[in-house]
Amino acid sequence: MNPRTVTLAALLTLALDASLEAARSQLISRPVPTEDLVERGRAAFTVSCGFCHGIDARGGEGGPDLVRSEMMLNDEGGDLLGPFLQVGRPDLGMPPFQLSDSEVADLAGFVRAQSQAVINRRLYVIQNVVTGDADRGRAYFNGEGGCGGCHDPAGDLAGVASRFDPPGLLNRFLYPGRGRGGARPLSREATVTPAGGAPVSGTLEYLDDFNVAIRDANGNYRSFSRDAAAVDVDDPYAAHVDLLGRYTDDDIHDLITYLVTLE
Ligand code: HEC
Ligand code: HEC
Repeated sequence: MNPRTVTLAALLTLALDASLEAARSQLISRPVPTEDLVERGRAAFTVSCGFCHGIDARGGEGGPDLVRSEMMLNDEGGDLLGPFLQVGRPDLGMPPFQLSDSEVADLAGFVRAQSQAVINRRLYVIQNVVTGDADRGRAYFNGEGGCGGCHDPAGDLAGVASRFDPPGLLNRFLYPGRGRGGARPLSREATVTPAGGAPVSGTLEYLDDFNVAIRDANGNYRSFSRDAAAVDVDDPYAAHVDLLGRYTDDDIHDLITYLVTLE
């Protein structure tokens, strides 16, 4: 694998952080608190909460990160924070606070602004992934990359960009079968030819240096010793594994920029 691919993969892992996804879906199209409100909230937060939760609400001396807190991401104008603050969780080190509704709204607005800032920074990283040239990407797809031999932009990949966001899509084409998102890897087909026997084909169930096992079309599990059988495995991801070692960074950026047009 080339080192640049590794860097990009590391970046992706960052961008794909589940909490970001959650946060994005939570915050998209929510009202943005005004600057005044955020500033009042910041002042109050620094005095009352910053010691434990950190002055930026990202977690501190004994208090958790509030920027990713489910409660805060679901809060609207203090509607969840208010009732929570009245009781706190004294047994766990979170004292109760008696505050007015507007003080609570200021605090909630400040935390919201912090969450938004974190998400925007992350989104910036994501958008940076889509900086290639779509035409070059299309050319690579149909030419050098050989993608067109297996995929059809108007067939299996039609609408692929609406199924995954850019980092998700990038992850899928770099590592199909290993991508996040709950997709199950495809099974591998294999043909085993025992010495002096007829070839048997089926779904690969097991493979190590000594043994191979397949499940044939009738559902029978059949195991063979490898020193007495030739094995031919058809790995559906082989092309993608091979591609990983061939892409340059530019190829990757051009391809993703092209793929995001397949909406
Ligand atoms: C003395 C330290 C301390 C102070 C001061 C403090 N907190 Fe906390 N806070 C905690 C601790 C510890 C927890 C975690 C309790 C737990 O484990 O459930 C917590 C939890 C929370 C949670 C729940 C997070 C979640 O997702 O469960 C919110 C919201 C919160 N604090 C907001 C505030 C706000 C707003 C202030 C200021 C008005 C504040 N806290 C002041 C220590 C503190
Ligand atoms: C030899 C065939 C082959 C080649 C060549 C190939 N792929 Fe794939 N590709 C696959 C298979 C097989 C999968 C897995 C499909 C699945 O998991 O359902 C896949 C998955 C994908 C996916 C994820 C699709 C989805 O819906 O999850 C993308 C995107 C993709 N490939 C893009 C590319 C690109 C871009 C290239 C060229 C750089 C390429 N592929 C080259 C066979 C190939």
